[in-house]
Amino acid sequence: MRISVIGCGYLGAVHAASMVELGHEVVGVDVDEKRVAALCAARAPFYEPGFEDLLQRALATGRLGFSTDVADAAGAQVHFLCVGTPQKHGEYAADLRYVDAAVESLLAVLQPGEVVAGKSTVPVGTAARLADLVGGKVPGALVAWNPEFLREGFAVQDTLHPDRLVYGLPAGPDGGTAERLLDEVYAPIVARGTPKVATDYATAEMVKTAANSFLATKISFINAMAELCEATGADVKQLADAIGHDDRIGRRFLNAGLGFGGGCLPKDIRAFMARAGELGADQALTFLREVDNINMRRRIRMVELAREVLDGSLLGKRVAVLGAAFKPDSDDIRDSPALNVAAQLQLQGAVVRVTDPAAVDNGRREWPHLDFAATPEEAAERANAVLVLTEWRQYRELDPVAFGEVVASRRVLDGRNALDREAWTAAGWTYRALGRRAG
Ligand SMILES: NC(=O)c1ccc[n+]([C@@H]2O[C@H](COP(=O)([O-])OP(=O)(O)OC[C@H]3O[C@@H](n4cnc5c(N)ncnc54)[C@H](O)[C@@H]3O)[C@@H](O)[C@H]2O)c1
Repeated sequence: MRISVIGCGYLGAVHAASMVELGHEVVGVDVDEKRVAALCAARAPFYEPGFEDLLQRALATGRLGFSTDVADAAGAQVHFLCVGTPQKHGEYAADLRYVDAAVESLLAVLQPGEVVAGKSTVPVGTAARLADLVGGKVPGALVAWNPEFLREGFAVQDTLHPDRLVYGLPAGPDGGTAERLLDEVYAPIVARGTPKVATDYATAEMVKTAANSFLATKISFINAMAELCEATGADVKQLADAIGHDDRIGRRFLNAGLGFGGGCLPKDIRAFMARAGELGADQALTFLREVDNINMRRRIRMVELAREVLDGSLLGKRVAVLGAAFKPDSDDIRDSPALNVAAQLQLQGAVVRVTDPAAVDNGRREWPHLDFAATPEEAAERANAVLVLTEWRQYRELDPVAFGEVVASRRVLDGRNALDREAWTAAGWTYRALGRRAG
């Protein structure tokens, strides 16, 4: 099939190359010229494990192209919308200007029988609104919503082997037409027996925001328990292990620490609350405000813990921050808890050096007032404390004995409960973590 992908960021670029892997002919369209140039040159414009290999393989087939001109999307049977839906400035609601602009531009090339398939995360009601617009301008062209669940760091695997497919379809026979086209796009995935939920627009849109709200709630739940553990002297890691043995609860997403960030969870729960308010159902989601609050409190607590460990004052203290990306295996620094903490420490007088295996360039660009180093050793040279704020494997596997040689004092704050506490304390480090007793 001929497919277009509008918006080639973390989601769209991986989706475009993956669709080639499934056997299709794909054009990726983006308004960012530098991004398109990099993709055309087979260079990944962001760090995502396995993506550059996939991109090179896909380009070598001759069935993948990238363009800044939406006219090149002409003739595609399915147009995937993968543009960003960030939080609006000064409001909780999602900013839909990129989605609207992308659909507007597509109208010039869209033909009857073609499907615009939204993958961006949007407020419930968006697909119905766009379907009216598209149907009014190009009768016979259809809109479907096909939310995406990929995780950065596992984007290639998640796109080629999703755990479910969700289609939000128009009512009536058009629904069957759109479903058949999407089934054809995902034929190898459907053939494997991947669970599929074919439903209406509103349910499909809500599946995505509900899933992210649940995950955010689970993280904030264990972080609230961490606050109580700190107040009582209990250990949140053992608590999580113990409750996680219950199948109904499960151990995943119960890692207490610095909380969630990134380009999805924070803005998605806020947009969900804003949309609930517009629909007169805000009470249903007031708990998400608390989820957000608990999450943001973790960042403040981390700064407090650093001050405590540094004998009550941050002034002039040298602090190494290991991690800038919002999660490991990504260079994405959108709403990164690690950088948020690093900036607060610096504003309060600490001398901060940040390092990250993949996100230093992005960090330098977006946070020019912070000092960055290429390696943990460089960042930690003569440091009074080391904070591990993103749980990269490289940091989990640091040798606490050798690493202890570069610092001025062996104090480590494990912001992700990711280090081997016994090994670090045995090497003479003072170990502190959120929700755990001093080690
Ligand atoms: N990143 C993820 O892990 C992930 C996972 C699931 C869903 N999502 C959702 O997918 C959407 C995209 O997220 P992302 O992380 O890829 O964002 P991103 O910012 O990395 O990418 C968006 C891209 O769209 C391009 N763009 C903007 N307006 C355009 C237009 N009119 N025409 C063509 N291109 C345009 C931008 O230049 C950018 O390259 C969001 O709604 C997000 O919530 C993201």
